[in-house]
Amino acid sequence: MLYLDAARCLETPRPPIWIMRQAGRYMPVYLALRDRYGFMEMIHNPELAATVTMQPIDAFGPDAAILFSDILVVAEALGQTLTFVEKKGPVLMPSLLSTTGTSVLRDPEDALSRLAYVPQAIRLIRERLPRETALIGFSGAPFTVACYMMEGGSSPDLKATKQMMVTNPDTFRQIIERVTVVTIGYLKSQVDAGVHALQLFDTWAGLLSWEDFQIWILPFVSRIIAELKTYGPKVPMTYFCKGMGGFYPLALDMAPDVLGCDWQSDIVGIKKNMGIRPIAVQGNLDPMLLYAPLAVLRERANRLIASLRPYPGHIFNLGHGILPDMNPAHVKVLVDTVKAWK
Ligand code: CP3
Repeated sequence: MLYLDAARCLETPRPPIWIMRQAGRYMPVYLALRDRYGFMEMIHNPELAATVTMQPIDAFGPDAAILFSDILVVAEALGQTLTFVEKKGPVLMPSLLSTTGTSVLRDPEDALSRLAYVPQAIRLIRERLPRETALIGFSGAPFTVACYMMEGGSSPDLKATKQMMVTNPDTFRQIIERVTVVTIGYLKSQVDAGVHALQLFDTWAGLLSWEDFQIWILPFVSRIIAELKTYGPKVPMTYFCKGMGGFYPLALDMAPDVLGCDWQSDIVGIKKNMGIRPIAVQGNLDPMLLYAPLAVLRERANRLIASLRPYPGHIFNLGHGILPDMNPAHVKVLVDTVKAWK
């Protein structure tokens, strides 16, 4: 499988491509389903989740599918109520306070049993996926999930979380611990169901200081990666955070198989500075290039591929997700451009 070869830093005739948020609102077939079902309803229903996962595979033929779900299902399984509000994003209730800490959360075992719809969806997807297409499972990394649980939704500056980190670090640690334990079991259940690879989304890690990254990211993510490395049919693990350009020396120490690079990072420099470590890179075209004239999109994609050809282990992707108003025809051109590389 091309995706797995690149994730293992083997030489490949071209980089594999998949795209973050490749399923979603920019696709008319997704919107047609969304008219009939709520977002969470589709995620909770294995049949619908499998259908949505396959939509971009059928439309564009990328080298990997990503499970249709959300990183916040773990917060929901732990006992918070999760809703998505139009133009606002996710809302988690009640948001956690230092006074409540983990006392309002469910035990890890109980939380895990509530996520059983995910491995069910994975089994359906594996039956439908072309043989050459990899299936990527995922979860949020504990810090990012804990941020949403603390803030009760999205936050530009993580104020509530950062206040808790300094005023009541023990309680915050308990929350991250709880999320870590559930995440490990959740990812193992995805491996058992048949994913070929895993990705940890740590969207907000880049807002931390260098010191706090070492306190709140490194130990927990290292533990998840180490546990999954020795579990069953070892699958490659990607670690993605916004701000990888600054934090990659620390991220390398967590020993992921692939570093997911956002569009601002120097992906070639990161790959070169890895030395002998066999870690692949993923990324990192600026998502805004999907708005560019097609000739520009093709030229930039080809330039990115060329710059990484000397270093085996590149998985082509955008540096962050596709936006809802992007043109599916441009996504098709991007996938075709990468697949036509010679
Ligand atoms: O990439 C894929 O196609 C797989 C599915 C996937 C979704 N969310 C679907 C989704 C994945 C991997 C995620 C991860 C996720 N979810 C992250 C980490 C990745 C990143 O973007 O940095 C985060 C932070 C979330 C939380 C989340 N989910 C937010 C903040 C929002 C609202 C913003 C928005 O785009 O509406 C979501 C909603 C969401 N997740 C949608 C989809 C398809 C839109 C739901 C809809 O209204 O139909």
